[in-house]
Amino acid sequence: MGKRICVIGAGPSGLAQLRAFKSAAETGADIPEIVCYEKQPDWGGLWRYTWRTGVDEYGNPCHGSMYRYLWSNGPKEGLEFADYTFEEHFGKPIASYPPRAVLFDYIEGRVKQAGVRDWIKFDTIVRDVRAVPDGFEVTARDSVADTETREIFDHVIVATGHFSVPNVPHYPGFESFNGRILHAHDFRDAREFEGKDILILGTSYSAEDIGSQCWKYGCKSVTVAHRTAPMGYDWPDNWQEVPALEKVVGKTVHFIDSTTKDVDAIILCTGYKHHFPFLPDDLRLKTANRLAANDLYKGVVFTGNTDLFYLGMQDQWFTFNMFDSQAWWVRDVIMGRIALPDAATMETDWQKRQADENALADDYACIAYQGAYTQELIDETDYPSFDVEAANQAFYAWKKHKKKGIMGFRDYGYTSPMTGTQAPAHHTLWVDALDDSLEDYLQI
Ligand SMILES: Cc1cc2nc3c(=O)[nH]c(=O)nc-3n(C[C@H](O)[C@H](O)[C@H](O)COP(=O)(O)OP(=O)(O)OC[C@H]3O[C@@H](n4cnc5c(N)ncnc54)[C@H](O)[C@@H]3O)c2cc1C
Ligand SMILES: NC(=O)c1ccc[n+]([C@@H]2O[C@H](COP(=O)([O-])OP(=O)(O)OC[C@H]3O[C@@H](n4cnc5c(N)ncnc54)[C@H](OP(=O)(O)O)[C@@H]3O)[C@@H](O)[C@H]2O)c1
Repeated sequence: MGKRICVIGAGPSGLAQLRAFKSAAETGADIPEIVCYEKQPDWGGLWRYTWRTGVDEYGNPCHGSMYRYLWSNGPKEGLEFADYTFEEHFGKPIASYPPRAVLFDYIEGRVKQAGVRDWIKFDTIVRDVRAVPDGFEVTARDSVADTETREIFDHVIVATGHFSVPNVPHYPGFESFNGRILHAHDFRDAREFEGKDILILGTSYSAEDIGSQCWKYGCKSVTVAHRTAPMGYDWPDNWQEVPALEKVVGKTVHFIDSTTKDVDAIILCTGYKHHFPFLPDDLRLKTANRLAANDLYKGVVFTGNTDLFYLGMQDQWFTFNMFDSQAWWVRDVIMGRIALPDAATMETDWQKRQADENALADDYACIAYQGAYTQELIDETDYPSFDVEAANQAFYAWKKHKKKGIMGFRDYGYTSPMTGTQAPAHHTLWVDALDDSLEDYLQI
């Protein structure tokens, strides 16, 4: 085609983009040259576990936010690739909430089969992107060679994720707390908190799951302070939900209802920032973590410069197959198979999506909304169509199972939207399954 495309990040979103172009090549299309920069030494994004926290081996911010013993927090039936099923990868049906290593293996299996590794420059961090008359100038640093390159591309696709740069609030007394204060981004092993009293701030997935991990691996008590509303699950006896934190004095945490608790550690499960230090203001996405992001036509085209795309920037119920739907769609814009409308239509598009999102009544409606968005993009490309409603149903059932028992929801199984196969039960109840290795999970 003569075009040059830069993909930034080789996590699930960036890999979806590489897979999309490869699939077009496999059907005989003339595809552009693709260069993917990945700052880590391997692919998989957050799913590539690292023990490191703070800075990486080259002094760059450490990307990893995942921790040991992490299992999928939603059913795998909601994220399955339509062109590469779990059954195809593992050779048999597997249970519905795989641990991280199993999902990493699945993500890797598809791109190994596609043969796209040569397109990726590992250990190479993108430092700067500028709009220039003939496209974009991208400055990247090879961390191993310690050298900088500047290359010109026709299109840039930002796939750097948005659950890596922590949102870290301050509360009075933090500086003199006699224990450890950490953000979820730096949490690695729940066994560190065995026998300890912990305070968690936040009420979303990190709070729920990190609290559950610490409980499962033997902490003494979990106290969760909420700023807006409690999670309201039927928690174990040594778990309590309390109002917002007011201040910290020594080891004592004070809540706004004047109650107190002595704790050994404070874990800030306070979310993440959309953060793009390599982008200037005219190219930088500025948005809250929501289902319809600001300034993105169809959730992917940056309205400030329509040669620039973003993948996976929405808050996520759907993940891997939604990233696929976006990557196939972006590929088709770049390859001239889909035409973009005028600027006013693109502005109206994201604003209408946000207005629709604002009107959603509950989580069930949010799931259906993101399912419909995924379906919309799939319908406009040759990504294999799948039963999106079956994926919605798996999410609805998941929510009901969580309400029924927060420490037991991972023991249920759902029907694959791709193969129609019912997932078997895992061999061990989640509360008793302390080994999260691929070998133990698959019993191989
Ligand atoms: C703790 C945690 C648990 C999660 N659990 C689940 C789950 O159970 N199920 C689920 O479906 N989703 C889960 N998610 C959501 C997760 O966001 C997605 O599954 C997925 O990883 C997003 O893929 P991504 O490629 O968009 O981003 P990421 O996975 O974050 O990948 C981005 C990639 O870009 C690279 N990068 C960043 N900056 C640069 C740069 N300047 N130059 C070059 N490369 C760069 C990074 O190194 C990384 O490889 C979880 C998220 C977190 C934080
Ligand atoms: N596989 C797994 O088990 C797993 C585990 C962890 C995370 N994840 C994924 O990671 C992603 C991020 O989830 P997340 O929970 O880290 O972030 P999140 O969903 O953005 O939630 C952030 C939380 O922080 C709270 N908060 C923000 N600022 C605060 C402050 N100053 N003081 C007190 N509370 C504050 C928010 O409270 P308000 O409601 O008051 O705003 C909210 O509860 C999700 O996609 C999730 O699925 C998955």
